[in-house]
Amino acid sequence: MKILVLGGTGFISRSLVVKLLEGGHQVTIFNRGKSPNGLPQNPNLKAVVGDRERLGDLQGCVKHTTFDALYDFLAYQPQQSEMAVKVFRGKTGRFIHCSTISVYLISYEVQCPISEDQDKADLMPFWAGNPFGMKYGIDKRGCEKVLWQGHHDNTFPVSMLRPTFVSGPRDPAQRDYFWIQRILDGKPLLIGGSGDFAFQQVYVEDVATAFTNLLENPVSVGQAYNVAAEEIFSLNEYLKKMGRLLGREPEIVQVDQDIFDRLTISNHHAGNVFPFNTRRTAVFSLDKIKRDLNNRSTPFAEWMPRTIEWFTKQYRRNSFGYERRKEELDFIQQWREHSLKLQRKW
Ligand SMILES: NC(=O)c1ccc[n+]([C@@H]2O[C@H](COP(=O)([O-])OP(=O)(O)OC[C@H]3O[C@@H](n4cnc5c(N)ncnc54)[C@H](OP(=O)(O)O)[C@@H]3O)[C@@H](O)[C@H]2O)c1
Repeated sequence: MKILVLGGTGFISRSLVVKLLEGGHQVTIFNRGKSPNGLPQNPNLKAVVGDRERLGDLQGCVKHTTFDALYDFLAYQPQQSEMAVKVFRGKTGRFIHCSTISVYLISYEVQCPISEDQDKADLMPFWAGNPFGMKYGIDKRGCEKVLWQGHHDNTFPVSMLRPTFVSGPRDPAQRDYFWIQRILDGKPLLIGGSGDFAFQQVYVEDVATAFTNLLENPVSVGQAYNVAAEEIFSLNEYLKKMGRLLGREPEIVQVDQDIFDRLTISNHHAGNVFPFNTRRTAVFSLDKIKRDLNNRSTPFAEWMPRTIEWFTKQYRRNSFGYERRKEELDFIQQWREHSLKLQRKW
Protein backbone atom coordinates (compact mmCIF):
# COMPACT_ATOMS: atom_id res chain seq x y z
CA MET A 1 0.00 0.00 0.00
CA LYS A 2 0.98 3.62 -0.49
CA ILE A 3 0.91 5.26 2.91
CA LEU A 4 1.41 8.79 4.25
CA VAL A 5 2.45 9.27 7.88
CA LEU A 6 2.10 12.77 9.35
CA GLY A 7 5.03 12.67 11.79
CA GLY A 8 7.03 9.52 11.20
CA THR A 9 10.11 10.21 13.30
CA GLY A 10 8.37 10.52 16.70
CA PHE A 11 8.24 7.87 19.39
CA ILE A 12 5.17 5.96 18.19
CA SER A 13 5.15 7.02 14.56
CA ARG A 14 8.76 5.92 14.00
CA SER A 15 7.96 2.39 15.28
CA LEU A 16 4.96 2.30 12.98
CA VAL A 17 7.02 3.39 9.95
CA VAL A 18 9.57 0.62 10.63
CA LYS A 19 6.75 -1.96 10.74
CA LEU A 20 5.12 -0.60 7.58
CA LEU A 21 8.42 -0.80 5.71
CA GLU A 22 8.98 -4.35 6.99
CA GLY A 23 5.52 -5.15 5.63
CA GLY A 24 6.63 -3.99 2.17
CA HIS A 25 4.53 -0.82 2.07
CA GLN A 26 5.60 2.38 0.32
CA VAL A 27 5.80 5.00 3.04
CA THR A 28 5.98 8.78 2.84
CA ILE A 29 6.71 10.63 6.07
CA PHE A 30 5.78 14.28 6.53
CA ASN A 31 7.59 16.35 9.15
CA ARG A 32 9.74 19.48 9.53
CA GLY A 33 12.97 17.48 9.30
CA LYS A 34 14.04 18.80 12.72
CA SER A 35 13.95 15.61 14.79
CA PRO A 36 16.59 12.95 14.15
CA ASN A 37 15.26 10.50 11.60
CA GLY A 38 16.88 7.27 12.83
CA LEU A 39 14.92 5.28 10.25
CA PRO A 40 16.56 2.49 8.27
CA GLN A 41 17.59 3.28 4.68
CA ASN A 42 14.86 1.87 2.48
CA PRO A 43 13.97 2.50 -1.16
CA ASN A 44 10.27 2.42 -0.14
CA LEU A 45 10.72 5.35 2.25
CA LYS A 46 10.23 8.92 1.11
CA ALA A 47 10.43 12.06 3.26
CA VAL A 48 8.48 15.24 2.62
CA VAL A 49 9.59 18.27 4.61
CA GLY A 50 6.76 20.53 5.72
CA ASP A 51 4.99 22.10 8.67
CA ARG A 52 1.65 20.75 9.79
CA GLU A 53 0.54 24.28 10.59
CA ARG A 54 0.85 25.38 6.96
CA LEU A 55 -2.10 24.45 4.77
CA GLY A 56 0.03 24.68 1.62
CA ASP A 57 2.57 22.18 3.01
CA LEU A 58 -0.16 19.65 3.74
CA GLN A 59 -1.79 20.22 0.36
CA GLY A 60 1.60 19.62 -1.26
CA CYS A 61 1.53 15.99 -0.03
CA VAL A 62 -1.49 15.19 -2.19
CA LYS A 63 -1.08 17.66 -5.06
CA HIS A 64 -0.04 15.07 -7.62
CA THR A 65 -0.89 11.84 -5.84
CA THR A 66 -3.29 9.97 -3.54
CA PHE A 67 -2.67 7.45 -0.76
CA ASP A 68 -4.23 4.16 0.25
CA ALA A 69 -3.93 5.13 3.89
CA LEU A 70 -2.83 8.07 6.01
CA TYR A 71 -1.84 8.16 9.69
CA ASP A 72 -2.10 11.41 11.62
CA PHE A 73 0.12 11.61 14.71
CA LEU A 74 0.15 15.38 14.75
CA ALA A 75 -3.41 16.41 15.56
CA TYR A 76 -3.65 17.94 19.02
CA GLN A 77 -6.21 20.63 18.30
CA PRO A 78 -9.58 20.45 16.52
CA GLN A 79 -8.54 23.02 13.89
CA GLN A 80 -5.65 20.72 12.89
CA SER A 81 -8.13 17.90 12.27
CA GLU A 82 -10.40 20.33 10.41
CA MET A 83 -7.49 21.14 8.12
CA ALA A 84 -6.84 17.42 7.62
CA VAL A 85 -10.45 16.74 6.61
CA LYS A 86 -10.32 19.62 4.16
CA VAL A 87 -7.01 18.59 2.59
CA PHE A 88 -7.29 14.79 2.56
CA ARG A 89 -10.95 14.14 1.75
CA GLY A 90 -11.02 12.01 -1.40
CA LYS A 91 -7.22 11.71 -1.32
CA THR A 92 -6.79 8.74 1.00
CA GLY A 93 -8.41 5.31 1.21
CA ARG A 94 -8.16 5.33 5.02
CA PHE A 95 -7.64 8.15 7.52
CA ILE A 96 -6.19 6.81 10.78
CA HIS A 97 -5.97 9.19 13.73
CA CYS A 98 -3.82 8.78 16.83
CA SER A 99 -6.06 9.68 19.75
CA THR A 100 -5.62 8.97 23.47
CA ILE A 101 -7.36 7.58 26.57
CA SER A 102 -7.27 11.16 27.87
CA VAL A 103 -10.58 11.63 26.02
CA TYR A 104 -12.13 9.59 28.87
CA LEU A 105 -10.03 10.84 31.77
CA ILE A 106 -11.46 14.35 31.61
CA SER A 107 -14.68 12.91 33.02
CA TYR A 108 -15.53 11.50 36.47
CA GLU A 109 -18.53 9.72 34.95
CA VAL A 110 -16.63 6.94 33.15
CA GLN A 111 -16.97 3.38 34.49
CA CYS A 112 -14.12 0.87 34.56
CA PRO A 113 -13.28 -1.02 32.48
CA ILE A 114 -13.70 2.03 30.26
CA SER A 115 -15.19 1.06 26.91
CA GLU A 116 -14.94 3.04 23.70
CA ASP A 117 -18.55 4.24 23.89
CA GLN A 118 -17.79 6.31 27.03
CA ASP A 119 -15.97 8.95 25.00
CA LYS A 120 -18.67 11.57 25.48
CA ALA A 121 -19.16 11.26 29.23
CA ASP A 122 -19.78 14.63 30.91
CA LEU A 123 -16.66 16.71 31.46
CA MET A 124 -15.44 17.07 35.03
CA PRO A 125 -14.76 20.60 36.29
CA PHE A 126 -11.46 21.90 34.93
CA TRP A 127 -8.79 20.37 37.19
CA ALA A 128 -6.07 22.94 37.81
CA GLY A 129 -3.83 20.18 39.27
CA ASN A 130 -3.16 18.99 35.74
CA PRO A 131 -3.94 21.85 33.36
CA PHE A 132 -1.99 20.26 30.52
CA GLY A 133 -3.84 16.94 30.90
CA MET A 134 -7.23 18.65 30.94
CA LYS A 135 -6.55 20.79 27.89
CA TYR A 136 -4.96 17.88 26.06
CA GLY A 137 -7.96 15.60 26.68
CA ILE A 138 -10.51 18.27 25.78
CA ASP A 139 -8.66 19.17 22.57
CA LYS A 140 -8.18 15.52 21.57
CA ARG A 141 -11.94 14.99 22.06
CA GLY A 142 -12.40 18.00 19.79
CA CYS A 143 -10.18 16.40 17.13
CA GLU A 144 -12.21 13.20 17.30
CA LYS A 145 -15.49 15.11 17.00
CA VAL A 146 -14.29 16.92 13.86
CA LEU A 147 -13.14 13.63 12.32
CA TRP A 148 -16.38 11.78 13.05
CA GLN A 149 -18.29 14.68 11.52
CA GLY A 150 -16.07 14.44 8.45
CA HIS A 151 -16.21 10.63 8.31
CA HIS A 152 -17.50 9.09 5.13
CA ASP A 153 -17.11 5.41 4.24
CA ASN A 154 -15.80 6.23 0.75
CA THR A 155 -14.41 9.74 0.67
CA PHE A 156 -13.03 10.02 4.22
CA PRO A 157 -12.99 6.66 6.06
CA VAL A 158 -11.84 7.39 9.61
CA SER A 159 -10.46 4.95 12.23
CA MET A 160 -8.69 5.77 15.44
CA LEU A 161 -6.69 4.24 18.28
CA ARG A 162 -6.72 5.51 21.84
CA PRO A 163 -3.46 4.40 23.48
CA THR A 164 -2.85 4.53 27.23
CA PHE A 165 0.60 5.53 28.62
CA VAL A 166 2.93 4.52 25.79
CA SER A 167 6.26 3.15 27.01
CA GLY A 168 9.41 1.60 25.64
CA PRO A 169 12.93 2.48 24.51
CA ARG A 170 13.26 6.10 23.29
CA ASP A 171 10.16 7.29 25.16
CA PRO A 172 10.60 11.09 25.19
CA ALA A 173 8.30 11.32 28.24
CA GLN A 174 10.78 8.99 30.07
CA ARG A 175 8.04 7.80 32.41
CA ASP A 176 9.69 4.46 33.19
CA TYR A 177 13.16 5.95 33.32
CA PHE A 178 11.97 8.29 36.08
CA TRP A 179 11.50 5.23 38.30
CA ILE A 180 14.38 3.17 36.86
CA GLN A 181 16.94 5.82 37.77
CA ARG A 182 15.55 6.27 41.28
CA ILE A 183 15.37 2.51 41.97
CA LEU A 184 18.93 2.11 40.74
CA ASP A 185 20.28 4.75 43.13
CA GLY A 186 19.09 2.46 45.95
CA LYS A 187 17.42 5.28 47.92
CA PRO A 188 13.74 5.38 48.95
CA LEU A 189 11.01 6.28 46.47
CA LEU A 190 8.54 9.02 47.22
CA ILE A 191 4.99 8.50 46.04
CA GLY A 192 1.88 10.62 46.45
CA GLY A 193 -1.18 8.89 47.91
CA SER A 194 -1.54 5.17 48.57
CA GLY A 195 -0.06 4.04 45.23
CA ASP A 196 -2.97 1.59 44.97
CA PHE A 197 -4.79 2.94 41.91
CA ALA A 198 -4.74 0.63 38.91
CA PHE A 199 -3.41 1.82 35.57
CA GLN A 200 -2.33 0.35 32.24
CA GLN A 201 0.68 1.13 30.13
CA VAL A 202 1.18 -0.05 26.58
CA TYR A 203 4.37 -1.07 24.84
CA VAL A 204 5.19 1.18 21.88
CA GLU A 205 5.66 -1.80 19.54
CA ASP A 206 2.18 -3.09 20.44
CA VAL A 207 0.70 0.30 19.55
CA ALA A 208 2.54 0.24 16.22
CA THR A 209 1.26 -3.30 15.55
CA ALA A 210 -2.30 -2.26 16.36
CA PHE A 211 -1.96 0.66 13.93
CA THR A 212 -0.83 -1.69 11.16
CA ASN A 213 -3.62 -4.18 12.00
CA LEU A 214 -6.17 -1.45 11.35
CA LEU A 215 -5.09 -1.42 7.71
CA GLU A 216 -5.82 -5.10 7.27
CA ASN A 217 -9.26 -4.98 8.85
CA PRO A 218 -11.90 -3.03 6.92
CA VAL A 219 -14.26 -3.65 9.85
CA SER A 220 -12.25 -0.97 11.68
CA VAL A 221 -13.51 1.79 9.36
CA GLY A 222 -15.66 4.17 11.40
CA GLN A 223 -14.35 2.69 14.69
CA ALA A 224 -12.22 3.81 17.64
CA TYR A 225 -10.23 1.32 19.73
CA ASN A 226 -8.57 1.43 23.11
CA VAL A 227 -5.06 0.02 22.99
CA ALA A 228 -3.41 -0.97 26.26
CA ALA A 229 -1.42 -3.75 27.87
CA GLU A 230 -3.55 -6.55 29.27
CA GLU A 231 -1.54 -6.38 32.51
CA ILE A 232 -2.97 -4.01 35.09
CA PHE A 233 -0.79 -2.69 37.92
CA SER A 234 -1.01 -0.29 40.79
CA LEU A 235 1.98 2.00 41.21
CA ASN A 236 3.13 -0.09 44.22
CA GLU A 237 2.97 -3.29 42.14
CA TYR A 238 4.71 -1.63 39.20
CA LEU A 239 7.57 -0.42 41.39
CA LYS A 240 8.00 -3.85 42.99
CA LYS A 241 8.05 -5.56 39.58
CA MET A 242 10.48 -2.98 38.29
CA GLY A 243 12.66 -3.55 41.36
CA ARG A 244 12.77 -7.30 40.65
CA LEU A 245 13.92 -6.64 37.08
CA LEU A 246 16.59 -4.25 38.35
CA GLY A 247 17.73 -6.54 41.14
CA ARG A 248 16.86 -3.98 43.84
CA GLU A 249 14.02 -4.05 46.32
CA PRO A 250 12.68 -0.48 46.34
CA GLU A 251 11.63 1.09 49.58
CA ILE A 252 8.39 2.96 48.90
CA VAL A 253 7.40 5.93 51.04
CA GLN A 254 3.78 6.98 50.66
CA VAL A 255 2.91 10.55 51.49
CA ASP A 256 -0.60 11.98 51.79
CA GLN A 257 -1.60 13.14 48.33
CA ASP A 258 -2.54 16.66 49.39
CA ILE A 259 0.80 17.18 51.13
CA PHE A 260 2.65 15.67 48.18
CA ASP A 261 0.81 18.06 45.84
CA ARG A 262 2.10 21.04 47.80
CA LEU A 263 5.76 20.04 47.39
CA THR A 264 7.63 22.09 44.82
CA ILE A 265 9.31 18.92 43.55
CA SER A 266 5.95 17.44 42.58
CA ASN A 267 4.83 20.59 40.78
CA HIS A 268 5.37 21.51 37.20
CA HIS A 269 3.34 23.82 34.99
CA ALA A 270 2.31 20.77 32.97
CA GLY A 271 1.33 18.80 36.12
CA ASN A 272 1.96 15.10 36.61
CA VAL A 273 5.66 15.13 37.52
CA PHE A 274 5.76 11.71 39.15
CA PRO A 275 4.63 9.22 36.50
CA PHE A 276 1.65 6.97 37.20
CA ASN A 277 0.49 8.99 40.20
CA THR A 278 -2.93 8.51 38.63
CA ARG A 279 -5.17 9.46 41.61
CA ARG A 280 -7.96 7.22 40.35
CA THR A 281 -8.35 3.75 38.94
CA ALA A 282 -8.32 3.85 35.16
CA VAL A 283 -8.50 0.53 33.34
CA PHE A 284 -9.72 0.10 29.81
CA SER A 285 -11.84 -2.45 28.03
CA LEU A 286 -9.88 -4.31 25.37
CA ASP A 287 -12.80 -6.46 24.18
CA LYS A 288 -13.27 -4.51 20.98
CA ILE A 289 -9.65 -4.44 19.85
CA LYS A 290 -9.23 -8.14 20.67
CA ARG A 291 -12.37 -9.01 18.75
CA ASP A 292 -11.79 -6.86 15.64
CA LEU A 293 -7.99 -6.69 15.42
CA ASN A 294 -6.99 -9.83 17.32
CA ASN A 295 -4.79 -7.58 19.45
CA ARG A 296 -2.49 -9.19 22.04
CA SER A 297 -0.04 -7.37 24.27
CA THR A 298 3.62 -8.15 24.90
CA PRO A 299 4.20 -9.13 28.57
CA PHE A 300 5.78 -6.50 30.84
CA ALA A 301 8.51 -9.02 31.72
CA GLU A 302 9.51 -9.01 28.06
CA TRP A 303 9.32 -5.36 27.05
CA MET A 304 10.42 -3.65 30.25
CA PRO A 305 13.94 -5.21 30.22
CA ARG A 306 14.38 -3.78 26.69
CA THR A 307 13.34 -0.37 28.00
CA ILE A 308 15.66 -0.64 31.01
CA GLU A 309 18.52 -1.63 28.76
CA TRP A 310 17.97 1.27 26.38
CA PHE A 311 17.72 3.90 29.09
CA THR A 312 20.60 2.59 31.17
CA LYS A 313 22.97 1.90 28.28
CA GLN A 314 22.09 4.39 25.56
CA TYR A 315 20.49 7.35 27.28
CA ARG A 316 23.05 9.70 28.74
CA ARG A 317 20.85 12.21 30.57
CA ASN A 318 19.11 12.30 33.94
CA SER A 319 15.43 11.47 34.28
CA PHE A 320 12.93 14.25 34.80
CA GLY A 321 13.52 16.17 38.04
CA TYR A 322 16.47 13.98 39.07
CA GLU A 323 18.61 17.05 39.70
CA ARG A 324 16.29 17.66 42.68
CA ARG A 325 16.49 14.09 43.97
CA LYS A 326 18.16 15.34 47.17
CA GLU A 327 15.04 17.37 47.96
CA GLU A 328 12.91 14.22 47.56
CA LEU A 329 15.17 12.39 49.99
CA ASP A 330 15.26 15.29 52.49
CA PHE A 331 11.48 15.39 52.46
CA ILE A 332 11.29 11.60 53.00
CA GLN A 333 13.58 11.98 56.01
CA GLN A 334 11.36 14.71 57.50
CA TRP A 335 8.21 12.73 56.78
CA ARG A 336 9.62 9.68 58.53
CA GLU A 337 10.66 11.65 61.59
CA HIS A 338 7.21 13.20 61.76
CA SER A 339 5.50 9.78 61.40
CA LEU A 340 7.77 8.30 64.07
CA LYS A 341 6.86 11.08 66.51
CA LEU A 342 3.17 10.44 65.87
CA GLN A 343 3.61 6.68 66.33
CA ARG A 344 5.37 7.25 69.67
CA LYS A 345 2.62 9.62 70.78
CA TRP A 346 -0.29 7.36 69.78
N1 LIG B 1 3.20 9.11 24.35
C1 LIG B 1 2.07 8.72 24.87
O1 LIG B 1 2.02 8.18 25.98
C2 LIG B 1 0.80 8.89 24.06
C3 LIG B 1 -0.37 8.31 24.57
C4 LIG B 1 -1.54 8.43 23.83
C5 LIG B 1 -1.54 9.12 22.62
N2 LIG B 1 -0.40 9.71 22.17
C6 LIG B 1 -0.45 10.43 20.89
O2 LIG B 1 0.67 10.10 20.12
C7 LIG B 1 0.91 11.13 19.16
C8 LIG B 1 2.38 11.48 19.19
O3 LIG B 1 3.02 10.45 18.51
P1 LIG B 1 4.58 10.29 18.44
O4 LIG B 1 5.04 9.99 19.83
O5 LIG B 1 4.88 9.33 17.39
O6 LIG B 1 4.98 11.71 17.98
P2 LIG B 1 5.93 12.78 18.59
O7 LIG B 1 7.00 12.22 19.42
O8 LIG B 1 5.03 13.81 19.14
O9 LIG B 1 6.68 13.21 17.24
C9 LIG B 1 6.31 14.20 16.47
C10 LIG B 1 6.64 13.86 15.01
O10 LIG B 1 6.00 14.83 14.24
C11 LIG B 1 6.92 15.75 13.66
N3 LIG B 1 6.37 17.10 13.88
C12 LIG B 1 6.19 17.74 15.06
N4 LIG B 1 5.61 18.94 14.86
C13 LIG B 1 5.42 19.05 13.51
C14 LIG B 1 4.87 20.06 12.68
N5 LIG B 1 4.39 21.23 13.16
N6 LIG B 1 4.81 19.83 11.36
C15 LIG B 1 5.29 18.69 10.83
N7 LIG B 1 5.83 17.69 11.57
C16 LIG B 1 5.90 17.89 12.90
C17 LIG B 1 8.26 15.47 14.32
O11 LIG B 1 9.36 15.70 13.44
P3 LIG B 1 9.99 17.18 13.29
O12 LIG B 1 10.29 17.67 14.68
O13 LIG B 1 11.22 16.94 12.46
O14 LIG B 1 8.98 18.01 12.59
C18 LIG B 1 8.09 13.96 14.61
O15 LIG B 1 8.26 13.22 13.42
C19 LIG B 1 0.03 12.30 19.56
O16 LIG B 1 -1.06 12.34 18.67
C20 LIG B 1 -0.41 11.94 20.97
O17 LIG B 1 -1.66 12.49 21.26
C21 LIG B 1 0.78 9.60 22.86
